[in-house]
Amino acid sequence: MMAPEARKTNYVIRGGAEGRERLRLLSQIHRQSTLDLLQRAGVAPGMACLDVGCGGGDVCFELARLVAPDGSVLGIDIDAVKIDIAQREARAQRLENVAFRVIDLEQGELPLQFDFVHIRFVLSHLRNPQKLLATIHGALRPGGTIVVADTQFYGFFSEPESRALARGVELYVKTIERRGANANIGPRLPSMLAAAGFQDVQVGVVQHAHIRGEPKTILPLTVDFSADAIITEGLASRAEMEALVAEMYEFAENPMSIIAGPRIIQAWAKAAS
Ligand SMILES: C[S@@+](CC[C@H](N)C(=O)[O-])C[C@H]1O[C@@H](n2cnc3c(N)ncnc32)[C@H](O)[C@@H]1O
Repeated sequence: MMAPEARKTNYVIRGGAEGRERLRLLSQIHRQSTLDLLQRAGVAPGMACLDVGCGGGDVCFELARLVAPDGSVLGIDIDAVKIDIAQREARAQRLENVAFRVIDLEQGELPLQFDFVHIRFVLSHLRNPQKLLATIHGALRPGGTIVVADTQFYGFFSEPESRALARGVELYVKTIERRGANANIGPRLPSMLAAAGFQDVQVGVVQHAHIRGEPKTILPLTVDFSADAIITEGLASRAEMEALVAEMYEFAENPMSIIAGPRIIQAWAKAAS
């Protein structure tokens, strides 16, 4: 097993170009609930926004349209391949008010002076998410807004029950735990925001269920793309993972089965003014 300090990142899901395509599907699933959340939290034209752990930049593109023409967006992520793809996609979409930068949240400094910070599905992968929230508090202008969304995997279910899906989720959650992070961090977000000094903390919950189409494969895909980390952590063999992942995809192909992803806890708050 690789020593944690020898690993460049704690992140368990395959990154790079393939990882970007998984995030495209994830963003498609969460697009409407994220737009609703951003509006509820008060995103407005003219704001300077930061998307922390932006992946392929999908939320940055939405924010760039919402804050245009005078507002701007910076997306930061540790994955240089995804950042490069995001830069190219921003140009293709003719979005001139969005920029991207490679930053390791566990090492680097955050840029400063934002009105609005968004961070989705990232804190669950970090060893010290509380420290990052305190740093984000310092990166916001007084009275600025933070919006956080993250998972609670205990909320996942399928109909009918699938042994393979339940096992896949269990392995994913355990692997993240082995790396010192928490895939069930969602319900803790409001108290973590308060502990980081944020005020007027608010909370919401969404959960997406699928019966057909590509979105139904997101959970099998996530476990599939986490297989290397699961194996590295000694939780399953390559042969076990191949059989498990094949069974998960097969379950998704059944036109009458339902797969509901994790509960997503959303929290938003203001930096002290
Ligand atoms: C599940 S993805 C979510 C991406 C994006 N926020 C979204 O919702 O579409 C988590 C992202 O966090 C990034 N990440 C993980 N650890 C990181 C770190 N230490 N520093 C910066 N980014 C990190 C990964 O590269 C990945 O793009």
